[in-house]
Amino acid sequence: LCSVRLHGSSFLLQIYSTQTKAWRSVCSHGWTDQQGRASCQSIGYSRATYFKSGQQTTSSNGGFLRVKSDLIPEAFISQQLVLSNTCPNNSVVTLHCTDCGSGINSSRASRSSLASVGSWPWQVSLQVSGVHRCGGAIISPYWIVTAAHCVMRTSSPADWSVYAGIMDRLNTLFNPAYSVSHVIMHEDFNILTRENDVALMRLSRPLDITASSNIGPVCLPNVGLNVTVPQSYWITRFDRSRNGDSGSVQLMEAQVSVVDTTECNSSIAYNGKISQDMFCARETEAGARICHADTGGPLVTLTDGLWWLIGDSIWGEHCTGQKKPGVYGNVTSYLDWIHRHMKKHQDD
Ligand SMILES: *[C@@H]1O[C@H](CO)[C@@H](O)[C@H](O)[C@H]1NC(C)=O
Ligand SMILES: *[C@@H]1O[C@H](CO)[C@@H](O)[C@H](O)[C@H]1NC(C)=O
Ligand SMILES: *[C@@H]1O[C@H](CO)[C@@H](O)[C@H](O)[C@H]1NC(C)=O
Ligand SMILES: *[C@@H]1O[C@H](CO)[C@@H](O)[C@H](O)[C@H]1NC(C)=O
Ligand SMILES: *[C@@H]1O[C@H](CO)[C@@H](O)[C@H](O)[C@H]1NC(C)=O
Repeated sequence: LCSVRLHGSSFLLQIYSTQTKAWRSVCSHGWTDQQGRASCQSIGYSRATYFKSGQQTTSSNGGFLRVKSDLIPEAFISQQLVLSNTCPNNSVVTLHCTDCGSGINSSRASRSSLASVGSWPWQVSLQVSGVHRCGGAIISPYWIVTAAHCVMRTSSPADWSVYAGIMDRLNTLFNPAYSVSHVIMHEDFNILTRENDVALMRLSRPLDITASSNIGPVCLPNVGLNVTVPQSYWITRFDRSRNGDSGSVQLMEAQVSVVDTTECNSSIAYNGKISQDMFCARETEAGARICHADTGGPLVTLTDGLWWLIGDSIWGEHCTGQKKPGVYGNVTSYLDWIHRHMKKHQDD
């Protein structure tokens, strides 16, 4: 049972108190990176890739947890905490398990739709035998989120190569291919209905996510995250270059907005094929040129200064000329599944 979670866009740490049967924030007084690491590990992140703890002022007057003064560092995180009515200085812990969600904010929405270097640092190209097969999103130095149907028939890790930080095919010559140690498909993926169309790939060695590398994770949508600007969703895909050279693929970007599910599920669109864990989105600009994201590729949004992974591209008939929206898996509804499987393989 995972009893640690992150809340909202500030990454407020919350720990489930079995005593009070409620989620509680943790006072920052006495909190160290050692507890930060342990908490990230119990969510599912590798200890080795821990980023940082911070603090924020709380306005909540509910109960808190605080670090015991006589703590035993080796104990489980929940055993190091006691209930407390208040926090010194009203200061509570925020926890960043990875340095996620930053992207250079340069040429977005330029007419060309060509993405610029560093603007979508979580986008990866998942390749089989040197051919781009699917898109995916980096969520930590070890983990990629993609779609289940991408890996269904190619479930052996040895078949896959992951390219990160690339903008076109030429870049694959100068960037290392990362090998995959685990391919994990959602066990309830349904090939007919496309429900639970999500998968994880774990890399054999961690990605280099230093600031200079054009590679970095997108944030998973924390519990309680409020997406405030409904129009500002973006998709990216590796697509044929429009400049004639048919062999080359380049990273393209487009702004999309979420389509009401009732409309998308109606007889004029997908006629009942939209399940609870899916949502639909279409390009904002008339005559936009990207059909939908790469299969498995990310749909992201900018909220409170960070980029969040909201959807993974699963299907769409938009390219047939009928202008049907793209269909995405709802990553928020897969959050527990993602963390559970990261945790299961965190030290492999
Ligand atoms: C999200 O929005 C709701 C309603 O506006 C609000 O009650 C809640 O506190 C917000 N959550 C966060 C984490 O800001
Ligand atoms: C409260 O804040 C003050 C000023 O920032 C700081 O000097 C003090 O150490 C804090 N107290 C605790 C218990 O963290
Ligand atoms: C879409 O329509 C089908 C058939 O009417 C229904 O079973 C399904 O629940 C609907 N999807 C959503 C998300 O409401
Ligand atoms: C990115 O650019 C847009 C439009 O220029 C702006 O509204 C937004 O605040 C910028 N975001 C960041 C994180 O700099
Ligand atoms: C995804 O599912 C969550 C509930 O799990 C819901 O609150 C949210 O609105 C859904 N997102 C979209 C884009 O439909």
